[in-house]
Amino acid sequence: MRRSLVLGNWKMNGSRSSAESLAKGIIAGLGADIADIAVCVPYIFLSDVAQIVKNTRLGLGAQNVADKPSGAYTGEISAAMLKEFACKYALVGHSERRTYYGDTDQSVAARFCQAQEQGIIPVLCIGETLEQRQQEKTFDVITAQLDAVVDLAGIAAFNNAVIAYEPVWAIGTGLTATDDQAQEAHHFIRQYLSAKDQAVAEKIQILYGGSAKPDNAKGLFAMPDIDGGLIGGASLDAESFLKIYHSV
Ligand code: PGA
Repeated sequence: MRRSLVLGNWKMNGSRSSAESLAKGIIAGLGADIADIAVCVPYIFLSDVAQIVKNTRLGLGAQNVADKPSGAYTGEISAAMLKEFACKYALVGHSERRTYYGDTDQSVAARFCQAQEQGIIPVLCIGETLEQRQQEKTFDVITAQLDAVVDLAGIAAFNNAVIAYEPVWAIGTGLTATDDQAQEAHHFIRQYLSAKDQAVAEKIQILYGGSAKPDNAKGLFAMPDIDGGLIGGASLDAESFLKIYHSV
């Protein structure tokens, strides 16, 4: 049985003090140890939030990581730097990075490898746009996104990784994939991995992301290939994030 994981993605929201109180509020309501839970916070708040989550079950993650180990890359943050702040996870290839900042399948694969080199678990975000879905290209897009990482890192690298399936048309739009639509994509992803390495496919946590909320989380999480969620908007409020966590 795979353990579930609920990851918050705070994106570019909040202030130093709201980040601290949100982390404290989540910790206060964690309750029983039913699943893994972590928050991906803006880089600049990692240091503060790292202090707050220390010795608690709330894990810490970053929202991105550089595709190079060090050097003249102005504005980038390396995996080794993230490691110093006790980051357990790093998102790679979030659709907002791909859409607004030019992350490509290849640069995402390089980021994935950089995270792993420092023992940080990459959370590989994949998913199709509405146009791609309407053109029935969903599985082609997902395959290309996965191929790029498998080509660079090898299938064994997925032993220490998480995948987040996030249909772009569902992110921040209030449109959620139905339980069956999400399950279909998750099943496809697990089959893709299984064809290369069955043990990897059975072990890996595949999260759903895209307008997951307290009122739809239970149905999504009940699907056999959905192992938790990557939560954006609803993770900015401790109570709603905890409700989602308690739906696993
Ligand atoms: P959302 O974001 O829950 O606000 O749709 C999810 C994500 O982008 O990870």
